Amino acid sequence: MLQRPMMIPLVDLATQSRAIKDDVLRRIGDVIDAGRYILGTEVGQFEEQFAEYCQVPHCIGVANGTDAIHLALRALEVGPGDEVITAGNSFAATAFAIAYTGAQAVFVDVDPTDFNIDPTLIEDAITQRTKAIIPVHLYGQPARMWEIREIADRHGLKVVEDAAQAHGAEIGSQRCGSFGDIGCFSFYPGKNLGAFGDGGAVVTKDAALADRLRLLRNYGQRVKNQHDLLGYNCRLDTLQACVLLAKMQHIESWTVQRRQVAAWYREELADIELILPSENDDMRHVYHLFVVRHAQRDALLAYLAENDIFGGIHYPNPLPTAVPFVDAPTYPFEVPVCTKLSQEILSLPMYPEMTREHVTQIGQTIRSFITREVARV
Ligand SMILES: Cc1ncc(COP(=O)(O)O)c(C=O)c1O
Repeated sequence: MLQRPMMIPLVDLATQSRAIKDDVLRRIGDVIDAGRYILGTEVGQFEEQFAEYCQVPHCIGVANGTDAIHLALRALEVGPGDEVITAGNSFAATAFAIAYTGAQAVFVDVDPTDFNIDPTLIEDAITQRTKAIIPVHLYGQPARMWEIREIADRHGLKVVEDAAQAHGAEIGSQRCGSFGDIGCFSFYPGKNLGAFGDGGAVVTKDAALADRLRLLRNYGQRVKNQHDLLGYNCRLDTLQACVLLAKMQHIESWTVQRRQVAAWYREELADIELILPSENDDMRHVYHLFVVRHAQRDALLAYLAENDIFGGIHYPNPLPTAVPFVDAPTYPFEVPVCTKLSQEILSLPMYPEMTREHVTQIGQTIRSFITREVARV
């Protein structure tokens, strides 16, 4: 009997949420009963578990990933007159967080094989004003942190990792978030570890920075109504901490499953005219997204949608083209690799609950698109 093709979304949050629903409801029930709604004990419990997961002593829960980067830069005293170097192809939040401090974002081009900031171009972008580098572990693939750290140390710069897409990603056996002075995470619902709303965290090995970050996220208060510095209201919500605690028990198996889905994709998409994502040696890619490249990307995306398979583009425009950054310095000028990639990249469906059948169906649909294109030429 012929099987009807399935509708396959880019991500499927509801299936995963159903699996942990009872655990989450129980934890939320405890919070409701105890009446501890702001910075409740669940926030502290989660911070402890997530710090251990990131192999660092300190984690501070914050309201979202954008705040995580903003507070990290504030803690490092980045401000007006400073420059901060980052990749030209991240989600806008990375650059926005730099701009919130009054510092100038400086964009460096990326390596076309791993989509991450090209360390060999960073030194061209360093000036007297440079204060920090923000590598982004895009799509879940670690940036080349050893090279970046070495450049930063040589020039006396701070390193803030944007690990919003890289929970559990590793270089050797060291976790992303633990290489820089501060690591920043997002728990936006679609992330590898996602809340049922907004959430984020910063992690660090440095006790003094951790202390400053705790003040920054809560109006500068160590003691209620004593404001030691100009802080913000950027606290991780206690109900979201409940969701994250429930999910922490599954994050490792979900990551293994994402890697399995990626391996199935590699089998299904072997030997066709499509560039598959690379995996750098000695790194653990956690496949927040499975991003392929094709010259007819828009036509392929449309063909997949006609066949009930929904992809995405992360991201369709390089950061220096966003209105707030049109005058920002770029290295090399106008980040040509980011520009080319933005025209060719396509994110295929990726979530831990995907089955071999889903991946086979996607593979067959892509094959039929490519055969059709070849027949047309
Ligand atoms: C690379 C990157 N940086 C920063 C962020 C900002 O995180 P949030 O949406 O939690 O503010 C995101 C996610 O949205 C992201 O993907």
